Amino acid sequence: MNKLVYVVIGIAIAIQFIRPDFKNQPVDDKLALNTDPKVMTILKTSCYDCHSSETKYPWYQNVAPVSWIMSNHIVQGRKALDFSNWANIDPKIKLLRLERAKQVVNNDMMPKHDYLMMHENAVLNKVDKQTLEDFFDSQIIELGGIPNELKALDK
Ligand code: HEC
Repeated sequence: MNKLVYVVIGIAIAIQFIRPDFKNQPVDDKLALNTDPKVMTILKTSCYDCHSSETKYPWYQNVAPVSWIMSNHIVQGRKALDFSNWANIDPKIKLLRLERAKQVVNNDMMPKHDYLMMHENAVLNKVDKQTLEDFFDSQIIELGGIPNELKALDK
């Protein structure tokens, strides 16, 4: 057999030993988001795999290099917005994220496209988007609205 084939197979096997650690942390119900069941269903279906500690891992979670991309999404996603740690997020940061959440959902930037290729059920339809926007708006109002100094930052 061609030597290159052995090299490629060797690399494919070797990279499997580089295993990212992206386990779910236990969820504290007191801190986790708990809201209208309709909203929860959409968030859990379309956002929770990257934005919570309730990630559902597919069978290919351990297959490199897919596992590296996945772990990067999950680590960065949780860092940006963690619904499992909702009550602990600083209100100013939360307001910024909520405002951004409206934009990224409306512009089809979230859920991420490579994720949607593997999770067709996570695609948001018009009604889902409106439900999420209403929820994000209600949270913004609950926190007293976006203060002017944050509006200035967002520009
Ligand atoms: C496949 C993983 C994945 C899914 C699913 C996903 N996100 Fe994200 N999200 C990320 C990552 C990673 C980031 C970090 C920054 C980036 O890459 O854009 C992020 C960032 C964000 C941010 C912060 C953006 C900013 O610029 O401040 C918001 C808000 C957000 N996501 C909302 C959502 C919502 C709402 C959903 C569900 C409708 C969702 N995301 C689904 C991976 C994901």
